[in-house]
Amino acid sequence: MKKETLILGIESSCDETAVSVVRNGKEMLSNVVASQIESHKRFGGVVPEIASRHHVEQITIVLEEALEQAGVTMADIDAIAVTEGPGLVGALLIGVNAAKTLAFIHNKPLIGVHHIAGHIYANRFETEMQFPSLSLVVSGGHTELVVMREHGRFDIIGETRDDAAGEAYDKVARTLGLTYPGGVQIDKLAATGEDSFHFPRAMMDDASYDFSFSGLKSSFINTVHNLRQKEMALNEADLAASFQASVVDVLVAKTIRAAKEYDVKQLLLAGGVAANRGLRERLTEQVASELPDVTLIIPPLSLCGDNAAMIAAAGTIMYEQGVFSDLAMNANPGLLFEDTYGA
Ligand code: KG4
Ligand code: ZN
Repeated sequence: MKKETLILGIESSCDETAVSVVRNGKEMLSNVVASQIESHKRFGGVVPEIASRHHVEQITIVLEEALEQAGVTMADIDAIAVTEGPGLVGALLIGVNAAKTLAFIHNKPLIGVHHIAGHIYANRFETEMQFPSLSLVVSGGHTELVVMREHGRFDIIGETRDDAAGEAYDKVARTLGLTYPGGVQIDKLAATGEDSFHFPRAMMDDASYDFSFSGLKSSFINTVHNLRQKEMALNEADLAASFQASVVDVLVAKTIRAAKEYDVKQLLLAGGVAANRGLRERLTEQVASELPDVTLIIPPLSLCGDNAAMIAAAGTIMYEQGVFSDLAMNANPGLLFEDTYGA
């Protein structure tokens, strides 16, 4: 019988300090996440220096809790997987240095994981992956369509040319005076409004699989400013619903078209914006009606945002493929998929 694989995952790329122990790449023994949202809220966004300080304070506590909840010690761990990038450099450094220190002290292999590979692998806790697959990655920093033909290989077929979807959500939320992170609040408001503003659907019908959200964001902000200048009432629910309808229309149309062209078996949703109710519902409906042979996988809400279980899951594949980092590994805020072991 094959020995079980226990991977310790560490994630600190933005405003969550997270550590997890994962068995055989798909069984979560623990998944501890210390969120800093409360500290960043009053600034309307993540303040890098504050994020780094929190990570320093939290990392040891979160690590001990993750090991304790999993009922294991460092001696039981086969390898340490950590987010190498992309992300905030000062934030990444805390996780990377914790991982390197643990790897050195306990003489364990070190695995540098791409944050987006992690988001995609969060889906493996739901069901086993099948290839070819298409992932719609939508987070605060990324909007990408990724084709996978085998484990650990990522082919980016489309991406945003300007703002990421989550970034656009957070910026329009800020215009309405909503607190950070605004995506969740726009999502809630949208459920109570109508698409009455008909904002543009950028690049919806062009041949590429790329996206653009900055025009939509500007349209939204200009509309709000004009209404305020005229001292007219803001229908926040309709504004949110109209913004969300535009984002969801474009994301879903391009995803369905790509899934058909690449003839995929699975469609995976990944990243913080995967928590969006409007997106989850519409994708579920469209896949059922247009892609009856495709399995749609959507992670539970707890695994949409940043966490370390997803890093351990992606790290397990690299462990099995023998892809390791050495102690010279450094935090890499601009890490590309191509720099890891993909495409
Ligand atoms: O993946 P994530 O936790 O961090 C990054 O890797 O960027 O994504 C965070 C992003 C934020 O922009 C947040 O506003 C957005 O995900 N988000 C949402 C929702 N929940 C979180 N956006 C839209 N609707 C939601 N329900
Ligand atoms: Zn993320």
